[in-house]
Amino acid sequence: TFTPRVFSGIKPSGGLTLGNYLGAIKRFVGMQGQMETIYCVVDMHAITVWQDPKELANMTREVAAGYLAAGLDPSQSILFNQSQVAAHAELGWIFNCVARVGWMNRMTQFKDKAGSNAEKVSLGLYAYPSLMAADILLYHATHVPVGEDQKQHVELTRDIAAKFNHDYKTDFFPMTTPVIEGPAMRIMNLRDGTKKMSKSGESDMERINMTDDADKIAKKFKKAKTDPEPLPETVEGLADRPEARNLVEIYAALDDTTPEAVIAQYPGAGWGTFKPALADLAVAKLAPISEEMARLMDDPAEIDRILAVGSDKARAIAEPILKKTYDIVGL
Ligand code: ADP
Ligand code: NA
Repeated sequence: TFTPRVFSGIKPSGGLTLGNYLGAIKRFVGMQGQMETIYCVVDMHAITVWQDPKELANMTREVAAGYLAAGLDPSQSILFNQSQVAAHAELGWIFNCVARVGWMNRMTQFKDKAGSNAEKVSLGLYAYPSLMAADILLYHATHVPVGEDQKQHVELTRDIAAKFNHDYKTDFFPMTTPVIEGPAMRIMNLRDGTKKMSKSGESDMERINMTDDADKIAKKFKKAKTDPEPLPETVEGLADRPEARNLVEIYAALDDTTPEAVIAQYPGAGWGTFKPALADLAVAKLAPISEEMARLMDDPAEIDRILAVGSDKARAIAEPILKKTYDIVGL
């Protein structure tokens, strides 16, 4: 049996979005104190696509600032960046030798990201899920809070753990559970309701950034694509209305309530009513966080210090697990 332990991470590959906040950070903070919690800035994952070196170091700090500003307490949770704990890369290599090429070929996120360009993307982008399995299993994490886009990767993590345990006749690695619950598991792009909101998306108007000011937030929600119909009288009326459902789910997640309750509050409301209410709510929830992020970013050395302390704590858990893995493999 394994001690309940949470691990999750965020890539420093662009400014944090409302999708990252509602689908990840807010929930990470909510799990603090319930179990052991380990949260990572996954900078090794970020370089699977090109990152300007100076920007990368700053983005790593900004993601750390996002976690801290949203309430992550470094005395309750371990907060660190992946590249400072070499065991991630080492276990990642072992898992490259456990995972099968056919498994990687089924990863839908790779297909989405590579598109028709699969011959030209980095080998790292292809092997990404195997490094993600290492991130999780290096801590024997039992629970991984993620958005829906990461579900397939956590399932692959279980496949890797199962094959390792089977091949080496051991029960060393746990079967990790993805924790995907709440109204915000798939926040969509504001300009195209069929795509998820992502920090690496093309246009700034398609996403709310955690650092956007009140005017920007209001403008982006005002311009958000919707159908012309008003909100329905009951939540069932949101079926087949992806853009409307997305805005209602964002409202629900920001307000710690359910889409049912939001519809009950705004039955039949027009967009001229609902969009400004949503913008006000988003500003009220995000402004204190973005102000705190700005304050933290004024002192980069302090963020680096917090990450260094977290990396020491992470290493203390990871290194014995890596050593045992080497023993099992015969290395
Ligand atoms: P991005 O896709 O913005 O680059 P990451 O891959 O770094 O984000 O994901 C970090 C965490 O944020 C993951 O748990 C992921 O599931 C979650 N996440 C990212 N985008 C969204 C979204 N649009 N809705 C819900 N959760 C999301
Ligand atoms: Na993602």
